[in-house]
Amino acid sequence: MSGHGSGETWSLHMTQEAAYLHVDAESKAPYAADVLERLRADAEVVIARYPGKRSALLPLLHLVQSVDGYVTGRGLKLCAELLDLTAAEVSAVATYYTQYKRHPNGDYTVGVCTNTLCAIMGGDLIFDRLSEHLGVGNDETTPDGKITLERIECNAGCDYAPVVMTNWEFFDNQTPESATRLVDDLRAGKDVAPTRGAHRVCTFKEISRVLAGFNDGRADEGVGAGPASLLGLQIAKEQGWRAPGDDAGGSGAPVQPQVHPEQTSIDSPSKAGPTGMRSTQPGTPPGPTGKEEPK
Ligand code: FES
Repeated sequence: MSGHGSGETWSLHMTQEAAYLHVDAESKAPYAADVLERLRADAEVVIARYPGKRSALLPLLHLVQSVDGYVTGRGLKLCAELLDLTAAEVSAVATYYTQYKRHPNGDYTVGVCTNTLCAIMGGDLIFDRLSEHLGVGNDETTPDGKITLERIECNAGCDYAPVVMTNWEFFDNQTPESATRLVDDLRAGKDVAPTRGAHRVCTFKEISRVLAGFNDGRADEGVGAGPASLLGLQIAKEQGWRAPGDDAGGSGAPVQPQVHPEQTSIDSPSKAGPTGMRSTQPGTPPGPTGKEEPK
């Protein structure tokens, strides 16, 4: 298996005993002077945000990915030098979090949620279909360097299961067909709009710079919380439910939910709609409000 991205090549060699990853020598080659100068200047901005400079390690690793496309050996060394850490300490962090890649990543990380809810709603099927369509497995990159396919854990988008993330933008309520169209469009270089969030999916390097703390000005684009996420809030408002401690007296005492006179209890199945959500008014089926609020 092999892949390339960002002008670098890598390959996974299988032997009878073990598999090992060969990282291209460029990973350890020195940065060009102008690149290094920019990296140091950006790192200085990031480090200044924290009372202790070692706290800047997570954003600095994203900064390295924004330049190299993954956490290279040279990027790892630079982080260690800038933060007075050992290379082993930086490596320990970079290998702990799945958002940091230790080998060249595709331009688009396509993560299929295969956690319990998404899996049973079709996530397993989507992953298998994409894996077959792209010819790659988990954490592998297509030969054109465009797509890295991943299994991901719950991304708190369960109300839109099954969810696919592309460079951490949400694609809700996916099917094998829609996910296949998504990767085909990305590989063809088309602009692709997520279901919620920014108007366009950006590249892995671009999103890495945002995660390093450099605002691209697009945080308020598009829909934040969609109707399915807001339904509970809508019902709570209509029923006058308040969070404990949120009452005018600020007593902190739990506030009992109001039960409609026709309901025998708050969980009365007789008032539950087809999705198990309670109706807000007699005879009114529950459902999305159609209202969308900015995130
Ligand atoms: S289980 Fe997939 S987003 Fe929660």
